[in-house]
Amino acid sequence: MKKTDILNPFILSADIPDSYFCDRQEDTDSLLMRVKSGNNVVLMSPRRMGKSGLIHHLFSRPEIKKDYNTFYVDIYETGSLQELIQKLGQEIVGKLSKTGFASLRRFLSMLTSLRGTFALDPTTGFPTFSVGIGEIPSPEVTLEEIFSYLEGADKPCLVAIDEFQKIADYEQKNVEAILRSRIQMMHNTTFIFSGSERTVLSQMFLSYSRPFYQSASFVQLKAINRDVYAGFAVRMFENYGKRLDKEAVYDLYDLMQGYTYYMHRTLNEAYPLMSAGSVCDKDFLFARIDDILVSYSDACQEILSGLTPNQRALMTAIAREGRATEISSSAFISRHGLPSVSSMQSAARALLKRQLISRNPENEYYLEDKFLELWLIRGLGITPAIRLEQNRRR
Ligand SMILES: Nc1ncnc2c1ncn2[C@@H]1O[C@H](COP(=O)(O)OP(=O)(O)OP(=O)(O)O)[C@@H](O)[C@H]1O
Ligand SMILES: [Mg+2]
Repeated sequence: MKKTDILNPFILSADIPDSYFCDRQEDTDSLLMRVKSGNNVVLMSPRRMGKSGLIHHLFSRPEIKKDYNTFYVDIYETGSLQELIQKLGQEIVGKLSKTGFASLRRFLSMLTSLRGTFALDPTTGFPTFSVGIGEIPSPEVTLEEIFSYLEGADKPCLVAIDEFQKIADYEQKNVEAILRSRIQMMHNTTFIFSGSERTVLSQMFLSYSRPFYQSASFVQLKAINRDVYAGFAVRMFENYGKRLDKEAVYDLYDLMQGYTYYMHRTLNEAYPLMSAGSVCDKDFLFARIDDILVSYSDACQEILSGLTPNQRALMTAIAREGRATEISSSAFISRHGLPSVSSMQSAARALLKRQLISRNPENEYYLEDKFLELWLIRGLGITPAIRLEQNRRR
């Protein structure tokens, strides 16, 4: 890509070209090392930190591209093994369509358990995996067929299943056992299981009684180093003849506590508005956050309107504290004028389930969405500048 081709170097999708991808060197190397030793990996981080981006980045590394067939499925929207199979089937067919007809035909001919036929893509003439749920009558058999294909593929396969914790929500309760029993026998295929629900994933892989017990090593993705991120952001501006004050990036980093997406989103907003010659400083960046919060307003209202009054009150109280501990203590309850302890416990469970709040290993509760947090507290008179100072005092 030529420099002039890019409209905005702060890319907001998960698949980021190398020159716009910030750091993650050690994380990439650590994944590479594990994958090359044939170890399955659990990649975990809070939401919006960069897991999916890192998986795509890993897949684009020359040593992976050359030596592996890579497949990526995001199963966030799935609710059953059939749907997982649909995603995986579509991904494999999509990838094979690019490599040629022979391997695609071989794959499809192995799927004898499926009902119906494969439709043809009118533009390429290649078959597509447009298989309905009802056409997967024996998902376990189909899964076996897909995995057999991977095992017999010309090169080792690397399969990333993003938002893997979803399988714990499937109605069918033995999906974990089905996957595990097959995966443990695979020699040509390595898996990356990725997700943000720490408790669910830890229970899945670290509890003795669960099928995936100790079957993969854990990689925890942390925030990108503060200096490295600031250096990257300044460089992105400079590369295109614009200027960004490094101190302002530190402010942004501390406000967003290093969560990549929220920093990137703010810089993505600021970048096109800066003219060459002037310097993007803290005031300018924080004004962009205000713009974003205004544009978020409807979405935030929508989220709130889907909550009970107790859930709303608890979420606002947690947002006000930023990181809240002992949320069922009488001190917390009275500090925020909340109703009873028991009603707050059930509100917390509901908010955790919906991933609106999270709990870190230190037992602190916080809002998953930083913009929602900033929007809520702005209604209480706490501006981003005030929150930044509060974060720094913590
Ligand atoms: N290393 C990076 N370099 C540049 N931008 C990044 C990097 N990592 C993440 N981002 C930015 O942050 C955004 C969120 O990253 P990503 O989608 O990978 O996070 P995630 O951990 O998978 O989030 P979720 O848990 O919501 O799925 C990306 O769309 C991109 O804008
Ligand atoms: Mg993701």
